[in-house]
Amino acid sequence: MPIDSHAHLEMEEFDSDRDEVLGRAAAAGLSAIITVGTTIPDCRKVAALAGLYPQVYAAVGIHPHEVNGIDAGTYDALRGFAQQEKVIAIGEIGLDFFYDLATREVQLRRFAEQLDLAIELDLPVIIHDREAHAETLRILQQRKGRLRGVLHCFSGDAAMARECLALGFYLSVAGPVTYRKADQLRAVAREIPIERLLIETDAPYLAPQPWRGKRNEPAHVVETARCLAEIRGMAAGELERLTEENTRRLFGLGPHHSA
Ligand code: NI
Repeated sequence: MPIDSHAHLEMEEFDSDRDEVLGRAAAAGLSAIITVGTTIPDCRKVAALAGLYPQVYAAVGIHPHEVNGIDAGTYDALRGFAQQEKVIAIGEIGLDFFYDLATREVQLRRFAEQLDLAIELDLPVIIHDREAHAETLRILQQRKGRLRGVLHCFSGDAAMARECLALGFYLSVAGPVTYRKADQLRAVAREIPIERLLIETDAPYLAPQPWRGKRNEPAHVVETARCLAEIRGMAAGELERLTEENTRRLFGLGPHHSA
């Protein structure tokens, strides 16, 4: 039973057909979906979705693109959402030095503050790192032994992967691993220890082949699982089962609900 460990079901791209999207995820065999907030209004929405659907869990945090919007009430709002049992992580938080929508100084400060919030709340973190590998590693190493979590849509090289694994982190692989020119990513993905591997869609973004360029949805995680199983020389069902176990262990999801 695959789990989509990172989707954005709260986004308006799903407002018109969210029930159908969840129906197709169930038909594809998914046992759970973690939907990940990026702003305070979207965190309110992920918490509500987790309350509404038994198979949906939520993460709350402020995305690096959105950190200019953090104000005096933001962290108390996140603490409030985290009281809900099915809010199981702090994310999506991190650094994005590709788009640089906030200054790097602000991104670094807000990332550190949200990591410290996760430590305070004893929750795992879901990390976005785009072209900020060295800074991401440094900020995690400063908190070595006090944090657990996942680097979502992992895009680092083999050396970065080893550093993250040494910190106890999991690495999550998304649809780009299926793209024709992604040989380097496939080479890294092949070497991730199976007990630290997660799979995700990042829907509505990053649709795997053959849906590349279209709206992505959680059901498509099975295509990423199929691709990963092939490059690792194992059965897709086995990869789905082991990544499900990993996701449940990291986020404390417990045994699976029948959706
Ligand atoms: Ni995301």
